Amino acid sequence: MEKRQELYAGKAKSVFRTDDPDKMVLVFRDDTSAFDGKRIEQLNRKGMVNNKFNAFIMTKLQEAGIPTHFEACLSDTESLVQSLDMMPIECVVRNVAAGSLCRRLGVTEGQELNPPTFELFLKNDALGDPMINESHVESFGWAKADDLAKAKELTYKVNDVLKALFASGGMILVDYKLEFGLFKGEVVLGDEFSPDGCRLWDSETREKLDKDRFRQGLGNVVESYEEIGRRIGMEFPS
Ligand code: TMP
Ligand code: ASP
Repeated sequence: MEKRQELYAGKAKSVFRTDDPDKMVLVFRDDTSAFDGKRIEQLNRKGMVNNKFNAFIMTKLQEAGIPTHFEACLSDTESLVQSLDMMPIECVVRNVAAGSLCRRLGVTEGQELNPPTFELFLKNDALGDPMINESHVESFGWAKADDLAKAKELTYKVNDVLKALFASGGMILVDYKLEFGLFKGEVVLGDEFSPDGCRLWDSETREKLDKDRFRQGLGNVVESYEEIGRRIGMEFPS
């Protein structure tokens, strides 16, 4: 497998073609973005930590029967993935109120959400990733109704698997964002799962361990990501 030209550079990852049209290489960079790219900083080691974190989580999800695009880590910061035809939408599940939900609805951070909410956002930085609903997805052709239904079902299944995994490390999975695409007609989890795209709090102290540390200037961002990993059984090179 040979890495070829860059296809796309996102805010925190770059995507490269390979000599196999069905496979791509994701490169996890140290760039850390918040507020739809309005704030970007380099955080030493973050690319390595997120690449390894994502590999660990994607493997757990695959073991639980959730199809993902992840194939293998190629280096500290690179992973081989299936090339998906991505849906331009973000699927967000929330177990506890935080972030934009609190701003939008005026609810208190920390309120438990039972059952968990499911929300859709359009991936569009220029528009600030606006919230959309299922009929928008269908009417604008962003995904077929049955593919969206499958993505929603898988997003909830991820919740069952990861809530339990993080609980075993003394953490609450507050919310998370997933992106899906199609591979030969099948709905497959794409993009990444890392502390950049979810909220995780310490179960006892409710300390924020995820990218809110960056958004809110709390410091020790990458150290905290490594702490999350260690609590669920990962090891990182020193
Ligand atoms: P929100 O509270 O800002 O709507 O975010 C909900 C969750 O989804 C939170 O864990 C962060 C994640 N998320 C992203 O990773 N990228 C995004 O563009 C958005 C809108 C949310
Ligand atoms: N991932 C988005 C961004 O970079 C939103 C966020 O995490 O705040 O800007």
